[in-house]
Formats: sequence, C-alpha cells, structure tokens
Amino acid sequence: EQRGVIFDLDGVIVDTAKFHFLAWRKLANDLGFDITLEQNEQLKGVSRIHSLEQILNWGGKSISKEEFDRLMITKNEDYLSRISGMSEKDLLPGVKKVLDYLTENNIPYSLGSASKNARPILKSLNIYDRFEAIVDGNDVSKAKPDPEVFLIASEKLKIKPENCVVFEDSVAGVEAAKRANMLSIGIGQEDVLREADHIFADFTQIELEFIEKIVTN
Ligand code: BG6
Ligand code: MG
Repeated sequence: EQRGVIFDLDGVIVDTAKFHFLAWRKLANDLGFDITLEQNEQLKGVSRIHSLEQILNWGGKSISKEEFDRLMITKNEDYLSRISGMSEKDLLPGVKKVLDYLTENNIPYSLGSASKNARPILKSLNIYDRFEAIVDGNDVSKAKPDPEVFLIASEKLKIKPENCVVFEDSVAGVEAAKRANMLSIGIGQEDVLREADHIFADFTQIELEFIEKIVTN
C-alpha cells in the first residue's frame, strides 16, 4: 500500500524553534519573569494561544482578554521580525536530500504544523509547491497533542493514518502522531523525545536507506 510522509515545520524543516523561544522569552521578561529551555520543550508544537496561556501560568500572571490578544500580536510581530530574510539556505541540513528522495520516488508528503505562519515560511524556503498538502494552524480546531492536524493531512494525502510517517521535534507532536496511529520519527534529543518510534539528532543522521525502509512495505 502507498505510504505518505507528514513533516512538522518548526524545528524539523527549519530552525525557527529557537526564534519562537526567543520571542516568548522576551515577552516573559517584559512581564517580569523568565522561561527556561526546559520549559520551552513543553511549548514546542503547541499553538500560539496555548503557549501564551502556559507562559502566563508559569509566571503567575492573570491578564485581561484585551491584554492577552495584544501580547499574541506583539509576540508574532517580534517572531516575524526575527525570521525575516529567510531563504532556501535556512532549510535544516539534510532536509533537502530527504524531500528530493521522496519526490523522485513519488512518495507524497504533507506539512502538519501548528503554526499560522507556515505557508509564508514554506514560500520563503522555496519548497511550498513541493507539498502535496499543507495543514497548519489555520486549518485545525484542536492543537497538538490532539491528532487532528495529522489526521487531516492523512485525508488530504488520501493515505491511511497507519501508512503515514510523521517527522516531529516536539513532545506534543510525537504524542499527536501516536494518537493518530502513525509511525513517529523524533528529530532532536533522545531524552526529550523518548516516546517516538525512532529518534535522530537531525536529518544528517538519517540514511536514505532508512527513509526507503519506512516508506515502502
Ligand atoms: C509550532 C511551534 O510549530 O507552532 C510553536 O513549535 C509555535 O513554538 C506554534 O508557538 C504556533 O506558531 P505560530 O507561528 O502560529 O505562532
Ligand atoms: Mg516543531
């Protein structure tokens, strides 16, 4: 049966995860507290709204709805200014090789990201047109670890969930993939992503033989 692949964006295809962290950290600092890298692991893959709720919770802050909305806008503007000028050279090492392999072998792939900025980011990386489907933060009602984003991607690819492989750098995303009944490949630290079916530090550690194995029967 035909297999398909679903890629998370931030921290998998491009190193935007660090800019999300820096922008959230600045927001916390402006409110008078700090967030750690360890806390940030819990923010990866999590929607913008839930991230802000979590951060305010850590800082023990309660704010009005208006202030909340304002902070979401400020954070996004800060984040966008940090990633402006992104281009093909910002694709994480090894990613291009895997996309090329999938394209050449007619293995369809989709994006499955929590970000509402995913489409413009893929365009600036010059890989937008290569995706068979794109599912992002604008298309879902339930955030990771809910499997919705990956299930919609599997529908759009017209490939059964159990035949989909997900690349993820976040704890929430690995859980979402598992709940969607998909094979999960963690990209990042082993101690963080231990629930994943396979874990690699980054794409340069993945041999094409491995990709071939997981996308064929
Ligand atoms: C996820 C990131 O992909 O998207 C999170 O891991 C981010 O850090 C979330 O908060 C939402 O992204 P955006 O671009 O819509 O604010
Ligand atoms: Mg991610």
